[in-house]
Amino acid sequence: MTDKIEAADEEARKSALALQDEALTADPDTIRLLFTQARTHYGWLDRGVGDDKLREIYDIAKMGPTSMNQQPMRVLFIRSKEAKDRLEPCLMPGNRPKMRSAPVTAIVAFDLNFWEELPTLFPPNPNARDIFKDNAAATRDHSFRNGTLQGAYLMLAARAAGLDVGGMSGFDNAKVDGEFFNGTSLKSNFMINIGYADTSKVHRRLPRLDFEKACQSL
Ligand SMILES: Cc1cc2nc3c(=O)[nH]c(=O)nc-3n(C[C@H](O)[C@H](O)[C@H](O)COP(=O)(O)O)c2cc1C
Repeated sequence: MTDKIEAADEEARKSALALQDEALTADPDTIRLLFTQARTHYGWLDRGVGDDKLREIYDIAKMGPTSMNQQPMRVLFIRSKEAKDRLEPCLMPGNRPKMRSAPVTAIVAFDLNFWEELPTLFPPNPNARDIFKDNAAATRDHSFRNGTLQGAYLMLAARAAGLDVGGMSGFDNAKVDGEFFNGTSLKSNFMINIGYADTSKVHRRLPRLDFEKACQSL
């Protein structure tokens, strides 16, 4: 067993060194695609997104880091007319047509019982579950923090896979939880409309805080 772990560690170090040696940086087009020219979208073309595409973006996003490898994000993809009918009353009126026209609306949720998976996800600490088992505050903090990070990874993974996205937090979380997660340990965080954008609905770009305003060095 120890031999196996040491071999895996060795393999990981080799892989990290090989990547470092490549001195890769994202090419300018990738940076435009993910950040600088990418936009938040509000209208959607009548073009579907297949299950394989959703699996592809999840499989990219799941590799983003979370503390103790917790991975508390759970995603419910809303696609059918029936599911959209249930979701619609939970949204602020202005967000309803955005969801209705999108081929997919991902409800990005987090699992308050994420810690049950820790023996598998974080074997270096076999007692990791005990940190959270009877600690509602830590459980909430960690699942919200890491679930939010994972939601951001999912947005960027979708862009990387050639899809457009639009985030939405204008909805009643308690209503969504009652409608879709009743009796479970899942809580809704935010939503992502995913598809191919109707670019006629894009608004002007809003300002971003500059480095001096947002950052300090000590
Ligand atoms: C988590 C999140 C929640 C958002 N909620 C809403 C929303 O409820 N309704 C809406 O119209 N836009 C919403 N937005 C869109 C933001 O206003 C938009 O991403 C931001 O102004 C930046 O736009 P840009 O990416 O086109 O520059 C949300 C974005 C994010 C990331």
